[in-house]
Amino acid sequence: MKKAWWKESIVYQVYPRSFYDSNGDGIGDLRGVIQKLDYLKTLGVDVVWLSPVYKSPNDDNGYDISDYQDIMDDFGAMADWEELLDEMHQRGIKLIMDLVVNHTSDEHPWFVEARKSRDNSYRDFYYWRPGKDGAEPNNWLSFFGGSAWEYDSATDEYYLHMFTKKQPDLNWENPRVRRAVYDMMHWWLKKGIDGFRMDVITLISKTPGLPDAPVTSTEMPYQFPGDLVFHGPRLMEFLREMKQEVLSKYDMLTVGEAATATPEIGIEITHEETGVLNMLFQFEHVELDSAEPHGVGKWQHKPLDLLEMKRVMTNWQKALEGKGWNSLYFSNHDQPRQVSRFGDDGEYRVESAKMLATFLHMQPGTPYIYQGEEIGMTNVKFESIEDYRDIETHNMYRIAVNEMGFDPRFVMEMIYSKGRDNARTPFQWDDMENAGFTHGLPWIKVNPNYKEINAANALADPDSIFYYYQRLIRLRKQHPIIVYGTYTLILDDHPQIYAFTRSMKGERLLVVLNFSGDTPAFSLPAPLALENQELLISNYPVDAEKDICQITLRPYEARVYRLW
Ligand code: NOJ
Repeated sequence: MKKAWWKESIVYQVYPRSFYDSNGDGIGDLRGVIQKLDYLKTLGVDVVWLSPVYKSPNDDNGYDISDYQDIMDDFGAMADWEELLDEMHQRGIKLIMDLVVNHTSDEHPWFVEARKSRDNSYRDFYYWRPGKDGAEPNNWLSFFGGSAWEYDSATDEYYLHMFTKKQPDLNWENPRVRRAVYDMMHWWLKKGIDGFRMDVITLISKTPGLPDAPVTSTEMPYQFPGDLVFHGPRLMEFLREMKQEVLSKYDMLTVGEAATATPEIGIEITHEETGVLNMLFQFEHVELDSAEPHGVGKWQHKPLDLLEMKRVMTNWQKALEGKGWNSLYFSNHDQPRQVSRFGDDGEYRVESAKMLATFLHMQPGTPYIYQGEEIGMTNVKFESIEDYRDIETHNMYRIAVNEMGFDPRFVMEMIYSKGRDNARTPFQWDDMENAGFTHGLPWIKVNPNYKEINAANALADPDSIFYYYQRLIRLRKQHPIIVYGTYTLILDDHPQIYAFTRSMKGERLLVVLNFSGDTPAFSLPAPLALENQELLISNYPVDAEKDICQITLRPYEARVYRLW
């Protein structure tokens, strides 16, 4: 396996709207990020992924871009962004930007032109189709509910939007679209950024003819389009072209968001020789606690079966081993808080947050930390739907309550467990008003638990989750085996303990994780028991003399041993 800086790095995701507000307007901003760079430096991260900061009417919090080469007023000006990049580089932190090119905002000048007339020279930048029998051109369901088509009376045609109707899909079949995207990428790379996180990049090639999706749900008039939109026939061709035109010319990190990707697709895209991107965000492991991967079922909680988690993670590890590369995450701005979801945000919040961190940071791949994860921020329960800001959440609530007749209390429960605003409440800096996030009125309420859970408390407590992350990050720098060692699952069938080894050149790591609040017994497989051992990290005090062949694990206990 070839060495690379992006394999050895830890990435930290900043969702700027909720990170730190420097000017009191209630919205996080770029100067706010600059002010907190020393905090990130203390944590020890190598790379920051900045969620979109481009001009946007904010229908989907910046994932609807109206100018790719300018900064959103809420966040500051280009000069602030340039200073941010400079301040980051001075601290040895790299910057990767979000690349959102499956769609633009409907306020982007390309779309403003396109919708003017059927023969406008930008018309073909998007998907425009006439209606079929007085209805939408096909039965595709938008990911945010309802039809994926919007009727535009000015030209009597529909346009495609896989997300909100203010996010029309770009037509990548049009070479002018691709050229414009590549030019824009060069522009940012020449400004000195270190890579891109590519939003829903596996959606850019749609099945020709845009055929109807098979009917899989009789509850709704629209159907999940699945493979008709994901990993379409020209996806690899487009990405190869992007690699040739742009990516191959820079030393950069590329990570593609890839819902529905299988390990086979993962190898094709991330293969070191023949692939196109460094790594993907696959979704299989974050779908394991939902009744269904999409539609309303995505919001319905299902208890995690740890054996399923082992199967999914191990499949990805083994498929990519020696060929491609994984990204490691549970959290981001679209996912509920990991400690609430896969740990215990009550009695064992600290222990379980550390255990989940150990899990991610000890697997092969590049770990991603989502802001607040390192202090164990939790999900939130706002009483009223009015307190929520996320458009996906509001759309789901409306459809589930008004169109499907669900009990509103049941729908609120779904939002508590799966809603994206769980991750978007302001970062909890201290126990002052609004968690120290803003002097103004925050754009979304803070989580009421900020008096206890905040960065100031974490920084004052040597045993905090924050310092545990700092240690995990340091270990990665000290032990190349954490980056490059081969992964082997052990105790395959244990329903509560996730254990694995990493091995490289006669050295081994043993990682033992209790995913439960119980106290299961752990027995070390015989050959490993003979080796010398050193405890590298654990989330409870461990008696060094004790034999590790047989131990009773404490709730959410995590231990990492070096064996030789
Ligand atoms: C994925 C992004 O992470 C999400 O926040 C956004 O709503 C959609 N893509 C559409 O851009």
